[in-house]
Amino acid sequence: MKKVNLGATTLQIPAMALGIMRMEAKSPKDAATAIETAYDAGINFIDSADIYGQGKSEEVFGEALKLGNVKRENLFIQSKAGIIIDPARSHGSFVFGGRYEFTKEHLLEAVDGILQRMHIDYLDSLLLHRPDALMDLDGIKRAFDILQASGKVRFFGVSNFHPQQVAMLQAELSQRLMFNQLQFGLMHTGMVDFGLNTNISNSEGTDHDGGLLEYCRRQHITIQTWSPFQYGNFEGTFIDNPDYPELNAALQKVADKYGVGKNAIAAAWILKHPADMQMIIGTMNPAHILDSAKGGEIEITNQEWYDLYLAAGHKLP
Ligand SMILES: NC(=O)c1ccc[n+]([C@@H]2O[C@H](COP(=O)([O-])OP(=O)(O)OC[C@H]3O[C@@H](n4cnc5c(N)ncnc54)[C@H](OP(=O)(O)O)[C@@H]3O)[C@@H](O)[C@H]2O)c1
Repeated sequence: MKKVNLGATTLQIPAMALGIMRMEAKSPKDAATAIETAYDAGINFIDSADIYGQGKSEEVFGEALKLGNVKRENLFIQSKAGIIIDPARSHGSFVFGGRYEFTKEHLLEAVDGILQRMHIDYLDSLLLHRPDALMDLDGIKRAFDILQASGKVRFFGVSNFHPQQVAMLQAELSQRLMFNQLQFGLMHTGMVDFGLNTNISNSEGTDHDGGLLEYCRRQHITIQTWSPFQYGNFEGTFIDNPDYPELNAALQKVADKYGVGKNAIAAAWILKHPADMQMIIGTMNPAHILDSAKGGEIEITNQEWYDLYLAAGHKLP
């Protein structure tokens, strides 16, 4: 498995992590199989969030950890906090409370809940899940200092933050922000579209996020890519999806050349990028985990990278 640096440090982490957003639907036994399969393929990095399955994903993970052969100390475990869940304000199955919150009290309480559900003593990393318009920078600083001093959290980062938000927060903190977790994949390419279409009057040339990709590279913040095999906002995977015939034909062609499956090529496309991103896969299916992991073993050519970008429906000027 390819490795990338953890933020601006020289510590090495795998270029692929296993996200457990969908673990809530699995039995602890199946979850343990998913964790072991990933671990054996070099993926010893776990990504969670307190809201996944309203906490159920972390409970299943905790049970799976007790059942399986993978030891906690051999894993890098990350979770996220700051999105409020509130069953009383339910909007369908996702029980969003209609509020983000980064107060010191909420962050401390959230981490205690995560540790309890996962049956662990510390988190390797904690991310602020999604920007809170009312974020109190001093409250975040105090929470991070307490969490670090108590040994409950080793490293910190953010998710879905634009560069000015990262810079603003970083200026207040004692700790260096290591990660920014953002959606990126063949069907979600805004971060590279902008760079390819600068100064052109098309929608791709519109900078939605303030040069996020370039900013993170310059600051040595590791970009973690969420939902790498999805199109839209959790609408489904594009892999083997008949609505994406051209992309699937292109993935198959490159997959045949390297003797792997399509997940591996969709993964290799992300990992080819010189920003040294860490991708977060969300499959719980051992066969899909294994094929995805192969994407961390191969390197596609520059032409193949562009051919896949075009086959996904993106245009070059
Ligand atoms: N920071 C954020 O705001 C944020 C938001 C969303 C997610 N995340 C993180 O990102 C992680 C990954 O998200 P995700 O689960 O949406 O990512 P994903 O890996 O793009 O999608 C996983 C889904 O695609 C399916 N899939 C994958 N390969 C397939 C194939 N070859 N054929 C058919 N189905 C296939 C999986 O089903 P099978 O299980 O059947 O393979 C699963 O339902 C999450 O677990 C979470 O940790 C973060």
